[in-house]
Amino acid sequence: MLLFACTAFSQKAPPDTVAGIPVNYDEDKVGTYTLPNPLTLVDGKKVKDSRTWINKRRPEILALYEQYQFGKTPALPQKLKVEVFDHGTPTFNGKAIRKQVRIYLAEDTSIHKMDLLIYLPADAAKPSPLLLNVSFSANSNVANDPGVRPGLIWSKEGKRIPAPAREFGKLNIEQFISAGIGIATVCYTDIEPDSKEGTQFGIRAYYAKLSNSKPAPDDWGAISAWSWGLSKAMDYLETDKKIDAKKIALTGASRLGKTALWTGARDTRFAMIIASISGEGGAALSRRNFGETVKHITDTSRYYYQFAPNYHNYGDRVSDLPIDGHMLISLIAPRPLLLQTGDTDLWSDPKGEFLAAVAAEPVYKLFGKDGPRTSVMSAAGGSSMLNTLGYFMHKGGHTVLPSDWEVFIRYMKKHF
Ligand code: GCU
Repeated sequence: MLLFACTAFSQKAPPDTVAGIPVNYDEDKVGTYTLPNPLTLVDGKKVKDSRTWINKRRPEILALYEQYQFGKTPALPQKLKVEVFDHGTPTFNGKAIRKQVRIYLAEDTSIHKMDLLIYLPADAAKPSPLLLNVSFSANSNVANDPGVRPGLIWSKEGKRIPAPAREFGKLNIEQFISAGIGIATVCYTDIEPDSKEGTQFGIRAYYAKLSNSKPAPDDWGAISAWSWGLSKAMDYLETDKKIDAKKIALTGASRLGKTALWTGARDTRFAMIIASISGEGGAALSRRNFGETVKHITDTSRYYYQFAPNYHNYGDRVSDLPIDGHMLISLIAPRPLLLQTGDTDLWSDPKGEFLAAVAAEPVYKLFGKDGPRTSVMSAAGGSSMLNTLGYFMHKGGHTVLPSDWEVFIRYMKKHF
């Protein structure tokens, strides 16, 4: 089912109607639009230096994203139990050290727990940089390693059941280890289920019940819940002496690309974000009527539950939103951000992501950092845009290709 969600649009001609709403793929019908200026404060004053950005404008934009798109993460317990159950086992012919950590997401340790799987280069002389991958797959399906604790998924009835083995979501662990980079992974549904029906069993419903809170327009959507879980993973990663806490990057694809962006915005401990095919609600400009739109994504038959309920109210009037994709990008500045897209992934509007990067570049410039440095998009497959705010489009669809991981490693080596 999820596999379908992730690959459907790369296999077939893009759909011309989704949830009964027409989809436009014609550049001539994109419409005209004016983007909100990321460098204009709510009171109309201009942001001219990085200090004003950090102290004033950035907090404003962050609050707008909470209010309009992703929702506000409630105050949750700070001290949650962490249990290291695999302290460092040599794997992959001794090239890597494997660690496994269970992170409890509630004070009641019988429910809501997330397993973090970590591989570090065995021969590292100093703490390693690390890429945290937020995955669609259970940890035991991500690595070809029988030592990984079997992962769980949600049943329809809200029970945690063993994840069936599958190939989707596999990572080539040794590729990172050979490059001197640690790699860690968590399965997003360990944090919160990914369906409308599953919402009642998740962490959001759990905490809402605990605090007796009433539904609000800026309630946290599933993306914010996944993002909060990633911050809990970061809480652990920061404490591991074998990891360079200042060089932890985060990556995710598709809805998890949106999640990676929002996490980088919320939690500046992530020193780099690699957002793959994040599309609508991610890096792509919503004001461009091309591919998926806010109306499609927030339809109650589709991904309404991933966002703050308020986002849905803007389906027919995106130009009234005080935010757009370029501003989500700007929240990562001045940290390195790589946007990866695919040239036939029209549903996700790769051009909309490129134009968002162009529009976010002035924010990076405040810090003396570069974005695309051009407003002309280059052809797929080029790799010249590995700037601090980088953009890379592969030839192909809505996926992360093996060759993309090589680009990610190059990007990490360049900026760390
Ligand atoms: C759907 C959805 C996208 C999302 C994607 C995914 O296609 O419309 O917004 O990015 O699923 O997560 O695979």
